[in-house]
Amino acid sequence: MSVSKICCIGAGYVGGPTMAMIAHKCPNIDVKVVDINETRIAQWNSDTLPIYEPGLDEIVKGCRGKNLTFTTEIDAAIKEADMIFISVNTPTKTFGVGAGRAANLEYVEKCARRIAEVAEGHKIVVEKSTLPVRTAEAVKRILSNASNGSTFDVLSNPEFLAEGTAIEDLLDPDRVLIGGERKEAIQELVDVYAHWVPTDRILTTNLWSSELSKLTANAFLAQRVSSINAISALCEATEADVDEVAAAIGTDSRIGPKFLKASVGFGGSCFQKDILNLVYLCEYFGLPEVAQYWEQVVRMNDYQKERFVSRMVRTMFNTVSDKKIAIWGFAFKKDTNDTRESAAIYVVRDLLLEKARVCIYDPQVTKQQVIQELEYVLSEGDNGISPAKRELIDNHVTFASSCEEASSDAHAIAVLTEWDEFAEVDFGKIHDSMKKPAFVFDGRNRLKQKNLVDSGFEYHGIGF
Ligand code: UDX
Ligand code: ADP
Repeated sequence: MSVSKICCIGAGYVGGPTMAMIAHKCPNIDVKVVDINETRIAQWNSDTLPIYEPGLDEIVKGCRGKNLTFTTEIDAAIKEADMIFISVNTPTKTFGVGAGRAANLEYVEKCARRIAEVAEGHKIVVEKSTLPVRTAEAVKRILSNASNGSTFDVLSNPEFLAEGTAIEDLLDPDRVLIGGERKEAIQELVDVYAHWVPTDRILTTNLWSSELSKLTANAFLAQRVSSINAISALCEATEADVDEVAAAIGTDSRIGPKFLKASVGFGGSCFQKDILNLVYLCEYFGLPEVAQYWEQVVRMNDYQKERFVSRMVRTMFNTVSDKKIAIWGFAFKKDTNDTRESAAIYVVRDLLLEKARVCIYDPQVTKQQVIQELEYVLSEGDNGISPAKRELIDNHVTFASSCEEASSDAHAIAVLTEWDEFAEVDFGKIHDSMKKPAFVFDGRNRLKQKNLVDSGFEYHGIGF
């Protein structure tokens, strides 16, 4: 058998771009991306895709209507596919056993049950979502009770793409990882990727190594950011400069220069969720010391966000109450419209709790998305949002359509995302329009300190 029809359940940040790339590189394979969310599917079929990702539009528009389809007809797509990817969300559980740590596998299980109910013949089911190690065991058990006597192979094929560079990462991945049991099934998936990925970069392992490698890769990456951020605090206390330290250690080929950029804190849908999941798994398997070791990476990240706000308050004469603060960037990194776990959410929350007035500008994030994030983070569990906190959102948050507009009359600018356009504005003009002293708190060390100081700003970066 060679795969000619693929179905991907879940049209999100992972499923959408990955399937678009498979369709683009494998014109002989028919790819259907399905989702229960009708609005999302309609967006994938429109001129404005639900995801902002450089290069994605061209690829989707080139294949859509040919061998790439976005549809809500889930059962039909499952039935006709040879290979079914599960690419649904696996958020941190917010209730019950493991709340705040374990992954919520409800959506994955629902997909497995749906496949078991409607599939006919033999299917290869591929876990694309990031999952706790040994999830494939549960998926296999559910599939073994299929209604129509169908048979299945289960593979793990975690996705390592980073948002903002998804297309580059998919086109030229460092590696593709495929875990499985039956050699022939693994080979079917290898053959799909071999359309464009050199075979020496397609690694095959057992199921559990593949599942665990994804959690481990994210934990190591997040650990590097927390490590340099921990050093940034020490730099601020000692007049060392964290960017100089990072450059110096990064020349050691054993350490390497990447992922050593000190920042206001890492965000994104993966790092925190995956580490908490790893912590939960370690506890579950009776390894409390290992759990505590990894948990510290998340604690350090929380500390970095809190530290950023306390430094702002301390520097601005110990009060930001009623002061306008321009927020430049709300996405968790540049070149994405994703705000999940963005450091900006927590910085803005803490500024609001200090009664500051924030004016937010992000080139890709919508006002509605920011409000949703703030409502969620200011809510108190099942009691929802209190009137006092609702008042903060209604009366202390405004939006602007440029850096200049956000900064006019502001006491300070907080740079929370490293969008390229932020470095290209006329700082002299912005300084003129602000209250004095005009402060810049650069949570990304993205702006040139010298230019800003020359324009009259009091500049505070991370880690110097
Ligand atoms: C990450 C992994 O990189 C990717 O392999 C995996 O598939 C999903 O999770 P992503 O979350 O999209 O990707 O973005 P990434 O580039 O890893 O950045 C995560 C966060 O760390 C961002 O908030 C980013 O700003 C921050 N970061 C990254 C730093 O603060 N400093 C750095 O040096 C690198
Ligand atoms: P990721 O970043 O992992 O891609 P997203 O939240 O962006 O996560 O996307 C996951 C998608 O999976 C969502 O669009 C959601 O509607 C979809 N989804 C969740 N459960 C199911 C299901 N049972 N059937 C089909 N689609 C689902």
